[in-house]
Amino acid sequence: MTMKKIVFLTGAGISAESGITTFRDAGGLWEQYPVEDVASIEGYWRNPKLVIQFYNDRRRQLAGVKPNKAHELVAELQDNYDVTVVTQNVDDLHERAGSNKIIHLHGELMKATSSDEPNDNRCVVKLPNYESDINFGDKAKDGSQLRPFIVWFGEPVPMIELAAERVSEADIVVIVGTSLNVYPAAGLVRYARRDATIYLVDPSPQNVPNDMDIHVISKKASEGMIDVVNAIRNSSLL
Ligand code: OAD
Repeated sequence: MTMKKIVFLTGAGISAESGITTFRDAGGLWEQYPVEDVASIEGYWRNPKLVIQFYNDRRRQLAGVKPNKAHELVAELQDNYDVTVVTQNVDDLHERAGSNKIIHLHGELMKATSSDEPNDNRCVVKLPNYESDINFGDKAKDGSQLRPFIVWFGEPVPMIELAAERVSEADIVVIVGTSLNVYPAAGLVRYARRDATIYLVDPSPQNVPNDMDIHVISKKASEGMIDVVNAIRNSSLL
C-alpha cells in the first residue's frame, strides 16, 4: 500500500516555542530591525556588512535552541506517511528533529553563497557550525563576496515550483505558524487538491483563505500538532 502524502507548510510560529522570535508578532524581529534594511536585496547592497552580521547573529542563536514538540511530531509522522516539509524558516530545527524531506523556500542559515549568482549551486557552501561566521571579505567560488544563503525581498524564490508540485500531490496539507503575509509562499495552499484535507495551526490565525475548507486549530504549534496527529490517525482508521 502506498503511504498517504502529507505536506507541512511551516513558518516562524513553529519555532517560536524553541525560543526563536517570529517576525510580525508584537515584539517580533521586524520591530527591532527594519525589514528593508536586513531582509531585502537593496538593503544588502546598501550595507552588506550589517546584513552579514545580522545573519551571523541569527546563526549563532541556533546553538542555544532546540526543536520543540511540534517539529518532533512532524518528523514522527514519517513512520506512517510520506511527509514533505515546506518551510519559510531559515533555521535547521526541522532537520534536527529528523525530518528527511525539507524544502526551504527562503534559504538556510547554515549555507552561504555568491553575491553575484546566489542561486548558482556551484557557489553554495554548507557552513560547518553555528560559529562559522561569514566575514566581510570572504569570497564565494566565483570571486564575489560570500553572502548568507537567504532569499530576500526583491529576489526570486527558486524552490516555489517544486513546493507547489508537492502541495498539489498531497492528501493532507498542514499549515503551522505562518501569518500568510509573504508571497509566493502564502499562495501555496491554493495548489492543494480539492479533496485534500487541510489543517491550520496558529494561536492567532491570520489571512486564512475563507473560500477554502480549512480546519483551523487556534493553538500553539506544540499543542495544535497533537490535535492534528490525532485527527490524521483517526481519519486513517475510517
Ligand atoms: P510571521 O512572524 O509573519 O508570522 C508568525 C505566525 O506564527 C503568526 O501568525 C503568529 O500568530 C504565529 N505564532 C506565534 N507563536 C506561535 C506558536 N507558539 N505556535 C504557532 N504559531 C505561532 O512569520 P512567517 O509567516 O513565517 O522571510 O513570515 C514569513 C516570512 O516573512 C519569513 O520567512 C521571513 C519574513 O520576512 C524572509 O526573511 C525572506
